[in-house]
Amino acid sequence: MEHQLDWSSDGEFTLDGVSYLSTSFLTQETHAAQSPGQMFLIKARSQVEHYVAMIEAIQPKFILELGIYQGGSTALLAQLAQPEKLVAIELEDSCRPLDEFITTHSLEGVIVPNYGVNQSDVVALDTIVQREFDGHPIDLIIDDASHLLAETKASFNRLFPRLRPGGLYMIEDWAWSVNPWGMPLPTRLQGTSPLSSFITELVFAAACLPGCIAEITIDVDKAIVRRGTRNMNPAVFDVSAHFDPMSRQMVDALSQFVTPTA
Ligand SMILES: C[S@@+](CC[C@H](N)C(=O)[O-])C[C@H]1O[C@@H](n2cnc3c(N)ncnc32)[C@H](O)[C@@H]1O
Repeated sequence: MEHQLDWSSDGEFTLDGVSYLSTSFLTQETHAAQSPGQMFLIKARSQVEHYVAMIEAIQPKFILELGIYQGGSTALLAQLAQPEKLVAIELEDSCRPLDEFITTHSLEGVIVPNYGVNQSDVVALDTIVQREFDGHPIDLIIDDASHLLAETKASFNRLFPRLRPGGLYMIEDWAWSVNPWGMPLPTRLQGTSPLSSFITELVFAAACLPGCIAEITIDVDKAIVRRGTRNMNPAVFDVSAHFDPMSRQMVDALSQFVTPTA
């Protein structure tokens, strides 16, 4: 299905009657621009356009999203993909705009938000995936949650094996420590290990675990890992468990780095 987003500016569009405010960064001013009833999305226009193209290309019907903030990305995914099941996981305890979107669009049971869940809580992830997907492989997983190294890796190890062969695992904003946007580093990311070292691990894993990772595509906004056909047990899968000694030393060295504190 082809979707026409009607952009009134680079930061605002409508899709099938739903209005979105789309912003690259969260600042004090960004929410002030939000109109009542408008869905809020932390994505630049180019990222939104990538979502449209990606959904069009892979037509995912079973989707898992980590980190939803005000639920704009979840609503957009639901409108674009018209999934059978879209499961969202969010650390905060509630997301009223998304709950209202679900009710307004009669999407109860299709969009299933799970609030108060840490993406690194692998027991919770197992329970949610089992309950909501019931053994059905997932087509698309998007991690736009903590952007922290250990948490991102924990989710990846547990969830990547749950993708169907050819399914996509997208890690957003991996480059925050490189800071291509020239933004001040948020306090919560100061003194932490850069997520970029995990992207390096994934690159090594593409060679060390043939058949698990079919392809990695990287740009400044995201890394997308396409699952290969090899069987992986989610309970024990560790993307870096089978590195050769030198690759092991290289990624261990990278994971020693921490970002400066102000
Ligand atoms: C960048 S925002 C998500 C933006 C949203 N995907 C969008 O495009 O509008 C990150 C979200 O992840 C949540 N988050 C942060 N750490 C998390 C964690 N460890 N587990 C789950 N969610 C987390 C935050 O509460 C926040 O709502």
